[in-house]
Amino acid sequence: MPRSVTVRAPGKVNLQLSVGPRREDGYHPLATVFQAVELYETVTATPVLGGDVTVAVRAQPTLAFDPASVPLDERNLAVRAARAVAQAYGIDDGVRLEIVKGVPVAGGMAGGSADAAAAVVACAEAWEVGATRRELHDLCASLGSDVPFSLHGHTAVGVGRGDELSPAMTHGELHWVMCTQRAGLSTPEVFAELDRSAEEDGREIPDPVLSQTLMAALIAGDPHAVGEALVNDLQAPALALMPRLRETLDSALDADALAAIVSGSGPTVAALARSRQHALAIAAHVTAAGTADAVLCVSGPAAGATVVAS
Ligand code: C5P
Repeated sequence: MPRSVTVRAPGKVNLQLSVGPRREDGYHPLATVFQAVELYETVTATPVLGGDVTVAVRAQPTLAFDPASVPLDERNLAVRAARAVAQAYGIDDGVRLEIVKGVPVAGGMAGGSADAAAAVVACAEAWEVGATRRELHDLCASLGSDVPFSLHGHTAVGVGRGDELSPAMTHGELHWVMCTQRAGLSTPEVFAELDRSAEEDGREIPDPVLSQTLMAALIAGDPHAVGEALVNDLQAPALALMPRLRETLDSALDADALAAIVSGSGPTVAALARSRQHALAIAAHVTAAGTADAVLCVSGPAAGATVVAS
């Protein structure tokens, strides 16, 4: 009997996302601080002897989810993840992947990357390939810049494309209100808009530098100081592509959020709250203002990809 393995991997918010000038290979050097939050993608892998890789996707009811927004072919990162594991370890069998989405699609929270990280771990376990942690990391890095972070979770500094990680020290929990939109934004288009507007203004993009103010605020466990230090260079281009996000940011700030920032390449807006109670109050205000399609209260940091059933 083939063994099914279920793995969950978290979505993320970037507390810092500083973007440098576009490199020759099309990627941008980053200085980023990721925090995993308690929204998860769950992937179940069931080996299929002599079969192919197939995928089915559904979503938790909390999510504003359009099934048509997730491809079921080679463009699906979980499918690519399964193929990458099979190729690396000479596996000829197929696998059935079942994804339950809990992270907004194309929302700037690395939902697709979490699928890939969870699929890598689930397939490696189900096929019993005996992969080391380093091998899992490298497989994840081959699939996308944010995938290694979904594997590792917690709070981490990312440099290079965002895939070279080191753990960041933090104290306590942060309480977030994730304000999501049904429509997504394309990550490459948001990066391209950053380049375009810099060129239009004749502005040179400096090399990205890690914020020591943010690192100190995280170590102190001071949400007010963390709020003041949040920075995202992709916020302006995301707002240029989706101007109504300004209203989402403003409605969170109206409810006294410590800060409100676009998450990653957007369009999800992350509002930082003083407490879980305050997060619920911000969520109620944003919902009443009608500036988001769905609002989720979450805390971070959360653990990385974890086997939850096998
Ligand atoms: O690595 P990933 O496939 O997730 O990246 C998607 C796209 O986002 C890239 O093709 C690139 O356009 C952009 N990107 C970037 N610089 C990064 C990460 C992503 O320009 N560090």
